[in-house]
Amino acid sequence: MTSKPRITVAKGDGIGPEIMDATLRIMEAAGAELDYDFIDIGEKVYLDGNTAGITTESWDTLRRNKIFFKAPITTPQGGGYKSLNVTIRKSLGLYANVRPCKSYAPYVQSKHPDMDVVIIRENEEDLYAGIEHRQTADVYQCLKLITTPGTEKIVRYAFEYARNFNRKKVTCMVKDNIMKVTDGLFAQVFRDIAKEYPDIESNLKIIDIGAALLADRPEDFDVVVTLNLYGDIVSDIAAQITGSVGLGGSSNLGKDFGMFEAVHGSAPDIAGKDMANPSGLLSAAVMMLEHLGQLDVAENIANAWSKTLEEGIHTGDIYREGVSKTKVGTQAFADAVIARLGSKPEKLPVLKLDQESFKPIVIPDYQRKVAQKDLVGVDVFVDDAQCTADELGNKLQSIAKAGLKLKMITNRGVKVFPDGLPETFCTDHWRCRFVHSENSKDVHQMKKVSKKDLLDLLTALNEADVDVIKTENLYYFDGKIAFSLGQGE
Ligand code: NAI
Ligand code: MG
Repeated sequence: MTSKPRITVAKGDGIGPEIMDATLRIMEAAGAELDYDFIDIGEKVYLDGNTAGITTESWDTLRRNKIFFKAPITTPQGGGYKSLNVTIRKSLGLYANVRPCKSYAPYVQSKHPDMDVVIIRENEEDLYAGIEHRQTADVYQCLKLITTPGTEKIVRYAFEYARNFNRKKVTCMVKDNIMKVTDGLFAQVFRDIAKEYPDIESNLKIIDIGAALLADRPEDFDVVVTLNLYGDIVSDIAAQITGSVGLGGSSNLGKDFGMFEAVHGSAPDIAGKDMANPSGLLSAAVMMLEHLGQLDVAENIANAWSKTLEEGIHTGDIYREGVSKTKVGTQAFADAVIARLGSKPEKLPVLKLDQESFKPIVIPDYQRKVAQKDLVGVDVFVDDAQCTADELGNKLQSIAKAGLKLKMITNRGVKVFPDGLPETFCTDHWRCRFVHSENSKDVHQMKKVSKKDLLDLLTALNEADVDVIKTENLYYFDGKIAFSLGQGE
């Protein structure tokens, strides 16, 4: 019996096997104490007719070992194949995607030589819930789901991470000026949790200007926490402006699991040519060894790697005349790193890890919120390609009598009835808001309605041949409005 941790390894597709072999050789030479179970995932498995891209036996291996070291995989184009990356992250509860983005200037050309930012991306929710529907001939929908437990976990993780690694500032990026309910929740949770970390500076930025500032002045940022889609985009920008997306590693962490991978994909254009840079996967390996507490091995690899870069031994993607000295392939690069194990860089910073930084981040179990919920109306979505806003509005006004009345109609979110503008372009998709028939205009003082009122309304609409495609209930939670108003309402 050995006490070595057993991890799961997938060599992946495209350049995956080459960079994984190179990385495992370096890890072996550096004395990583690990045993491996290899699994096949990705293209081969998809093309064998398994639309998930992974077999049941591989799931068993993953769940047993709890640590997954993964090379990039190819998701075949075209219908039916679900992204295996998203499936693995969500199935194993890997809620935090951590991507350190650091410059290695002047050895790797970067416009931002002092950049050292960590992007922490929420990894399970948002538009990546993948709940999409075509609702009418013209209109398609994707649901953006943001939850309190998901948001609390990732925001708390970001502050704990900052504390562990002595980082000074956490910036949250949202679009809460537009998405007041979903991004508004993320921002509010951030403000609340930030109060528990007075030792760390916190600030909120709107994602569009935030991303622009990050690209222009990354030195002003330290830790960035954001929602899944924004994080996906912002972390690629951040990785790319360090010099190359080919250098970035990432960890995907959950309560009990960790998955470690390069930021980049399977690069089929250079697969099998011994051209790929293994650095992204190697930095993921360093993160994994840190996570497993093998800090000496992690330091040794990182320092030998910095020394290799410093000496100008570069793969084609980062090779620059005048800066680089020797252009090497994947395996020769790995050999160069192995030859430098035990030595330290002279100009780039020497990595010295501190056990304290790697104390496990424990997020308290979520306490389910209780809230008083009152039904105050319903949005009825209607498919109608023939009518105008006024025609539909007048028709629905005459139908609504069962305790509910039509308040307004919007098309793509903008109010078109009553008193719409003739300039507004309308699709065949109408959101018709019904509220208590005795309501005044004040949206904060709406009267309660019953489920029976809703059912009666739907029956009446059905009898009038109105094509209802979906309904969304309108609630107050703890007496407060919990839905957005129509633009112009
Ligand atoms: P990609 O990251 O594979 O390639 C983009 C460009 O960067 C290509 O020109 C490629 O040659 C270059 N490149 C990437 N990694 C490199 C490396 N280590 N060394 C040198 N050059 C490198 O992105 P692309 O082309 O959009 O995707 C290719 C496939 O990878 C797709 O099937 C995609 O679904 C998959 N993919 C998988 C990921 C994963 O498994 N985590 C992540 C992203 C994409
Ligand atoms: Mg991405």
